[in-house]
Amino acid sequence: MSMLNEKVVIITGGGSGIGRATALRFAALGAKVIITGRRAAALEATTAGHPGIIGLVADAADPDDAGRAVDHAIGCWGRLDVLVNNAGAGAILPLAEARAAEIERILAVNVLGPSLLTAAALPHLAAVRGGIVNISSTFGHRPAVGLSHYAASKAALEHLTRCWALELAPQGIRVNAVAPGPTESEALTGMMNLSAAQAATVKEQERQRIPLGRRGEPNDVAAWIVRLADPASDWVTGQVIAIDGGLGLT
Ligand SMILES: NC(=O)c1ccc[n+]([C@@H]2O[C@H](COP(=O)([O-])OP(=O)(O)OC[C@H]3O[C@@H](n4cnc5c(N)ncnc54)[C@H](OP(=O)(O)O)[C@@H]3O)[C@@H](O)[C@H]2O)c1
Repeated sequence: MSMLNEKVVIITGGGSGIGRATALRFAALGAKVIITGRRAAALEATTAGHPGIIGLVADAADPDDAGRAVDHAIGCWGRLDVLVNNAGAGAILPLAEARAAEIERILAVNVLGPSLLTAAALPHLAAVRGGIVNISSTFGHRPAVGLSHYAASKAALEHLTRCWALELAPQGIRVNAVAPGPTESEALTGMMNLSAAQAATVKEQERQRIPLGRRGEPNDVAAWIVRLADPASDWVTGQVIAIDGGLGLT
């Protein structure tokens, strides 16, 4: 039996892509999962047929929703073992077009939200010596034209991962991150607001740049999120694991 059986997990942004694949993987191992997101229909598409996954409409950028998500997990299942900060915001935003509201939106979802949710979760994670997995990006440690604020927000999340790992180690809480490369999901047409034709062009360009010759599937990333959360990885903390087909090496 998996060491994740009966563990309780919160995953932000569980209604699609990497978050959905991660929720299904935890549930298949017997974990109880709360997924959050802004669209109820997307959450229902993940929870359908999976009694071990519960959806909660919550906005990662809203400070009030951090406490609500943790309270929901405790109310439903009485404990919290794992937090996956997966919800992400981004934009193709050349510096000349940068505006305060757009920068604030990206930072609110990618930096403020994980900070407040993690803070709200701390007493419960400490009680069970639990774990946190943050979702960065190749661009969290590699520069990219037109993506500076998305990239900087993910760089912040990578450094929060290392700082929190040190700060929380005395409580037995492990903090790690995965940095996915280009992965099939709604990210290009949703988060990055590209048309279907633009997304198809970007996907082909990305595929050609990835040494292993293909874009990732959500399960490629989900497998490592679950692995880092698993108590079997209990001597690993403060690490950012690139799951990117080798893109970060180029
Ligand atoms: N796919 C890639 O190529 C790639 C590469 C590197 C890193 N990543 C990172 O991987 C993570 C997951 O992205 P994905 O690729 O799986 O994209 P996705 O399919 O667009 O999933 C993102 C999820 O986050 C939710 N979300 C967005 N803003 C939210 C908010 N304010 N509050 C709550 N939920 C929110 C979305 O649901 P709602 O719209 O319903 O809220 C959506 O279900 C993100 O952090 C992203 O930056 C992705």
